[in-house]
Amino acid sequence: MSLTPIGAPRQKITVASLRDRKFQHEPITCLTAYDYSSARLVDEGGIDVVLVGDSLAMTMLGHENTLSVTVDEMLHHTRAARRGVKNALLMADMPYGSYHVGREDAVRNATRFIKEGGAEIVKVEGGEKRVALIREIIDAEIPVAGHIGLTPQSVNRMGGFKVQGKSLSDIEQLMRDATALDRAGVACLFLEGIPREVAEMITNEVGTPTIGIGAGPGCDGQVLVFHDILNLTFAPAAKFVRRYGDAAAEISHAVHAFRADVLSREYPGDKESYHLPAETKQALDILLERKRAMRGRKPMTAVE
Ligand code: KIV
Repeated sequence: MSLTPIGAPRQKITVASLRDRKFQHEPITCLTAYDYSSARLVDEGGIDVVLVGDSLAMTMLGHENTLSVTVDEMLHHTRAARRGVKNALLMADMPYGSYHVGREDAVRNATRFIKEGGAEIVKVEGGEKRVALIREIIDAEIPVAGHIGLTPQSVNRMGGFKVQGKSLSDIEQLMRDATALDRAGVACLFLEGIPREVAEMITNEVGTPTIGIGAGPGCDGQVLVFHDILNLTFAPAAKFVRRYGDAAAEISHAVHAFRADVLSREYPGDKESYHLPAETKQALDILLERKRAMRGRKPMTAVE
């Protein structure tokens, strides 16, 4: 294994890099990010793929699921993330409705993510049934990431966010979906919410790099949601989430401390205030002194 050491100069990650990683058995790292500052931190942290996921409907916009987020909203966030990403591969999620109505419409929407959003690859949920569409998007020179298993855009059909691929017939369908997307030429394949044994079988079966979320350690890479790893979701974490920080506690502490300092007049202090240049202050003091003399009042000085 030739893992790039942390802190070493980085190369630009492309879709070809993802294939190389699978070939060389080097894990692929992916995190979501939805704006400039988080995307920049994720990129500078050495993560390979920054995903502007439609999970932003829930994490950033407070919706119950991902279904209502629009192409324009996704583009707004993709453009912001673009400005923060230098080395990572920037991936944008095609939201629900943007590729379900017609293929021409879908290709047009995919091109918007490249032209207007600055994304380098788009992600589409669904298996076999998306093959023709995915081929058309690839024909438009746009790399595509597949996404199967627990596909959040199918929440109503699935009857909730439920682990998929538990029965033999479901496993068979997942294998068919994975091999169909592999043959269609997807650049990578997200496996979400499936038993680890199934994810490992798929990973061994396809040449496409797999990136798992709630799919166990047998995938070629792992993805998590930025807000999950930092405790910013206001909800109990799913089984597969590992929390690497508590941003909610940090932010809450900072907000309370600011409020208390303002109420007690501790903030702002002299060091946090701007001052007049010495000569301006001197001139102002003279002016105020003259005014005072004209009014016959007692001396007053300018504020320092
Ligand atoms: O939208 C998203 O965050 C995703 C990941 C969970 C893979 O699609």
